[in-house]
Amino acid sequence: METGENWIDKAWDQALRKTIRNTKRIGDGFPHASKNGVYELADPGWWTAGFWPGMLWLLYNQSERGELRELAEKCESRMDAVLDGYERLDHDLGFMWTLTSVANYTLTGSNVSEVRAMKAANYLAGRFNLKGRYIRAWNPWKEGERNEGEAIIDCCMNMPLLYWATRTSGDPRYAHIATAHLDTVLEHFIRSDGSVYHIVRFDPETGEKIEGVGGQGFATESAWSRGSAWAIYGLTLAYHHTGKKEYLTAANLTANFFLSRLGEDSVPAWDFRAPKPLRELRDTSAGACAASGLLLLAEKTGGEDSAFYRMRAEAILQSLFENYGAWDIPDEEGLLLHGTSHYPQGSNIDVPLIYGDYYFVEGLARLKDYGPFYWE
Ligand code: GLY
Repeated sequence: METGENWIDKAWDQALRKTIRNTKRIGDGFPHASKNGVYELADPGWWTAGFWPGMLWLLYNQSERGELRELAEKCESRMDAVLDGYERLDHDLGFMWTLTSVANYTLTGSNVSEVRAMKAANYLAGRFNLKGRYIRAWNPWKEGERNEGEAIIDCCMNMPLLYWATRTSGDPRYAHIATAHLDTVLEHFIRSDGSVYHIVRFDPETGEKIEGVGGQGFATESAWSRGSAWAIYGLTLAYHHTGKKEYLTAANLTANFFLSRLGEDSVPAWDFRAPKPLRELRDTSAGACAASGLLLLAEKTGGEDSAFYRMRAEAILQSLFENYGAWDIPDEEGLLLHGTSHYPQGSNIDVPLIYGDYYFVEGLARLKDYGPFYWE
């Protein structure tokens, strides 16, 4: 392992170079998972649509390469059909429009982007179930499916869009809804050891909690590492937006659980409680997301804890760069190898994932102080 900060500059440079090369093929497409070296392009309505343009904005902001901004803006425009086709929208509005329209508005002041982000925030707020005080996750995946009562840990990362909407419009309703949802997360999703449920099912009529569900993890009581990463980062952002100490305490708890489960190479298993042979399988996207969240947590936490979180986040990012990067594989479009998207469904296992790439670049940008970061 290289000592000092030299590796960060090298990693940034490699990420920029590979991304510029990728723009030639991917253009204003929506990459999700890379198969045989080539990113499959997803529908603009898929939850991952914001990550490629979000990464382009981060890299543009530092490099000022106009073609990166142009493609990010084209992606954002292509997503209008999704925003206008109401039935395709679910709670991932936050992931999708924070990294596109909020990013654009933040950097350029674009009024069109502001309106898009406000529309997205309104749809997201409309998913709030007042009785259960949660944001409904999905729409039915198939005819007749009933999932009005399901909320998921990932949604913590969608809440910054609501805080942004309150900040931008002056209307506190959005923030009230985000805070109510996050309070429900504290009550029902976070276990006492700091691990989390992926899905919690509520009775949508009475609001009563029914049960935790394993979702993308190995089992109901297992510990899906990307779920932990969403919790660490999302709860830290919740503290950032509200100043509520309970969120910081929960962010610390989830971070300490995650960090205590890392092996020597600092990159998480896809599920910390999967049985042994399966646990060998990594999820680099969980590592990258947690690392970026830990860097923000380090800023929010004082004293020794702050130095500890920064040191551990840096170790994760450095290991991702040195042991999991595809820098020397010219026929691979992904930046990071070995991501795991949905093991129980058997989809996109042990492949580069666009959100892994995004959070890796975001983590590097945090180390270099190359903000702004659009969740904030
Ligand atoms: N938000 C879906 C996932 O983490 O795979």
